[in-house]
Amino acid sequence: MIYGIGTDICDIRRIQASLARHGERFAEKILSEVELTTWQMRSQRWPERGVRYLATRFSAKEAFSKAIGLGMRMPMTWRSCEIGKLPSGQPTIVLHGELKIWFDAKGLSAHVTVTDETDYAASFCVVEYSDKNRL
Ligand SMILES: CC(C)(COP(=O)(O)OP(=O)(O)OC[C@H]1O[C@@H](n2cnc3c(N)ncnc32)[C@H](O)[C@@H]1OP(=O)(O)O)[C@@H](O)C(=O)NCCC(=O)NCCS
Repeated sequence: MIYGIGTDICDIRRIQASLARHGERFAEKILSEVELTTWQMRSQRWPERGVRYLATRFSAKEAFSKAIGLGMRMPMTWRSCEIGKLPSGQPTIVLHGELKIWFDAKGLSAHVTVTDETDYAASFCVVEYSDKNRL
């Protein structure tokens, strides 16, 4: 059964501007440790890919925050919602800390998809009750 859905569109130029203004501190605010390492590697090789990576993470986290119905309010935080990757390349949500405890206690699971094109990154997220909770 569906618990909630969420979507977000992010202007990549705004992410670029925030990075230009605040530097790595902006990425550190949005990304988990694992994501930050990926972002640093991508940015070093090709800065534009780093910006796109950050923008898709930003939009996926916002989409997730809407799907769980909290928005960016505790226990939802940028860094406790990590967008991981399966071996196939499919994005997956990995939660940490208080957010993970809150989410698991409700018996929820999440699905997310992201995309980007020229100036925009967009994400869609579905949160459902896990199979074990089905009657
Ligand atoms: C949900 C949230 C993250 C999205 O904000 P945003 O990126 O500025 O705006 P978007 O256009 O992407 O989304 C806005 C829509 O999100 C939806 N939304 C708002 N709160 C929501 C919630 N708790 N759960 C699900 N959806 C929500 C609404 O439909 C809203 O549209 P509306 O204003 O026309 O009603 C934001 O509203 C929020 O949580 N703010 C509270 C905390 C905050 O201000 N944190 C600062 C973070 S830096």
